[in-house]
Amino acid sequence: VRAAVVKDGDVVVEDRPDPVAGHGQLLVAVRAAGLNAADLAQVAGRYPAPPGVPPDILGMELAGEVAAIGEGVFRFAPGDRVMAVVGGGAQAEMALVNELEAMPVPARLDWQHAGGFPEAFTTAHDALFTQCRLGLGDRLCIHGAAGGVGMAAVQLGVAAGARVVATARREEHWPALAALGALPVAPERAGAAGPFDVVLELVGGAGLADDVASLALGGRICVLSVNSGARAEVHLGTLMQRRGRIFASTLRSRILEEKAAAARGVEARVLPLVDADRVRVPVFATFGLDEAPAAYAAFGAGGKLGKIVLVTE
Ligand SMILES: NC(=O)c1ccc[n+]([C@@H]2O[C@H](COP(=O)([O-])OP(=O)(O)OC[C@H]3O[C@@H](n4cnc5c(N)ncnc54)[C@H](OP(=O)(O)O)[C@@H]3O)[C@@H](O)[C@H]2O)c1
Repeated sequence: VRAAVVKDGDVVVEDRPDPVAGHGQLLVAVRAAGLNAADLAQVAGRYPAPPGVPPDILGMELAGEVAAIGEGVFRFAPGDRVMAVVGGGAQAEMALVNELEAMPVPARLDWQHAGGFPEAFTTAHDALFTQCRLGLGDRLCIHGAAGGVGMAAVQLGVAAGARVVATARREEHWPALAALGALPVAPERAGAAGPFDVVLELVGGAGLADDVASLALGGRICVLSVNSGARAEVHLGTLMQRRGRIFASTLRSRILEEKAAAARGVEARVLPLVDADRVRVPVFATFGLDEAPAAYAAFGAGGKLGKIVLVTE
């Protein structure tokens, strides 16, 4: 199979042996696979793949057709359309997915949109609802809102009845965020639009002190990124007075059972919104699998609105 692989700090497309489905696994003919910031970190040697997945084949999310199943697979059968967050190996013509990680692809999603769905929406759903318990009428602030996770989170927040403030450093991205139902503001102006019950920090440490200052009583912050730095100094007195909480997490390092639980949550609460056309997958650009190096260059250049997705022929 053709696969996008890391070689000496670069992305190249090479042939690899066909994977074989083991116990509990689906062999998926990949139709589309999204890019994520974590893929770029892996290319740079800063984020090795976890055990049990191909160490050098890139890609943490995919959509495709089940080509074969291993023993002990009960839910899906050859020909089914599935999508999943995976530990690695997604950006290839064939990939292995544990059945528990897989979700059905709603009829409304074509392959390119399905390929850009799993990571952004699973991450956003897990952070906003499982961790931060976002509720009806909550005031939500999303920093880094023009990216894949950010645009997913804006839509889930709006769908859940929250009042959503979205920050993006590029003003040209604001109209798209407003169209999703958020109030777009410059990152340094977010505090003036607060206070917030929930803050989703998708940029990093540079904003954390302001995030704490912008909290309402009982407010929750979820940190998912270190793009603007992995260190922060916050005013603990303010955090105590607001009775605030700071959460942080990664998806990739979780055990299978936790990934399965996150996928079931998305199936139960987000896929119905996709079916009803109340949330859409924000695909900014697609590239063929053989153009993977160009896709990575486009991702690295910044300025995109939503997802970049690789599609197979
Ligand atoms: N912990 C987890 O489980 C998990 C899961 C998924 C993603 N993440 C992380 O969450 C972040 C968002 O993910 P994503 O997929 O949405 O990434 P993305 O599509 O690359 O979006 C990142 C957004 O943040 C903006 N940004 C980057 N650096 C910035 C800075 N220093 N100041 C202001 N804005 C900045 C980017 O704007 P420009 O276009 O202007 O650069 C872009 O709009 C990434 O850091 C990713 O690694 C974490």
